Amino acid sequence: MIKGIIFDLDGVLVSTDEMHYLAWKRLADELQITGFTREDNRRQRGVSRMASLEIVLEKADRVYTEEEKAELAERKNNYYLELLEHMDESAVLKNVKEVLAGLKERGLLLAVGSASKNAPVILEKTGLLPYLDKISCGLDTTKSKPDPEVFLVAARKLELSPGQCLVVEDSAAGIEAAAAGGMKSLGVGPFYRLLHADYEAPMLCEVQNWDEILK
Ligand code: BG6
Ligand code: MG
Repeated sequence: MIKGIIFDLDGVLVSTDEMHYLAWKRLADELQITGFTREDNRRQRGVSRMASLEIVLEKADRVYTEEEKAELAERKNNYYLELLEHMDESAVLKNVKEVLAGLKERGLLLAVGSASKNAPVILEKTGLLPYLDKISCGLDTTKSKPDPEVFLVAARKLELSPGQCLVVEDSAAGIEAAAAGGMKSLGVGPFYRLLHADYEAPMLCEVQNWDEILK
C-alpha cells in the first residue's frame, strides 16, 4: 500500500522547462554552439546541472576543463535565476495545489524529489511549500537521476520504505530512477507515453485512477 508520494518538481508541479531551455540556449549561443536544440533540451529533463551541461557541450568544437565547466554551469544558473526572479504562483501547473490538498486529505505523506538545487526557492516563490512534508533536492544528493539517490533520500525523510512510495515524474531518467529505487511510478507531462511508467496521465490533474494507483 502506498503511504507517500514523491513528486519531481520541474515539469510535474511547476512549469520551468522553458526557462531552463532559454538559459542553456543563451549559454550555448555565447559559446557559439549552434546545434543546441529543443530535442537536446528534452534529454536534460530530470538530470543534474552538470550532466545537463555535458549535453550542451556534446556539440562544442573544443574540450573544456573542469574549472571552465564549473564556471559555465554557474553562468547558466545565473541566467536561470534571472528568469526565476519573475516567478510566482502562476508557474504552478494546472490544479496542482488542489490535487496535493486532496492527496493530503487521504492521509498520504507528500515530498518533492528533484535534481534541482533551486527547488527550495521555486517552492517558496510558487507557494507550494505548505503542501509538502519533506524536500529532497540537488542540495541533498551527489548522484544524478537515473540514480535513485534523490528518491531514496525523500523516502528516508518521510520515514517510509521505497515500496511504500510512489514517484511522479515527467522524465525518462526519473522513471528509471524510481524503478532502480524499488518504487512504483506515475509518468506525466508531454512525453508521458514514452516514459514506460507503471501508470500514466498527461497531467497530474488528469489522473482518474488514484484508488488503483495507491492500493
Ligand atoms: C531538473 C530539471 O529538475 O533539475 C533539469 O529537469 C535540471 O533540467 C535539473 O538540469 C537541475 O536544476 P538546477 O536548478 O539545479 O540547475
Ligand atoms: Mg522533471
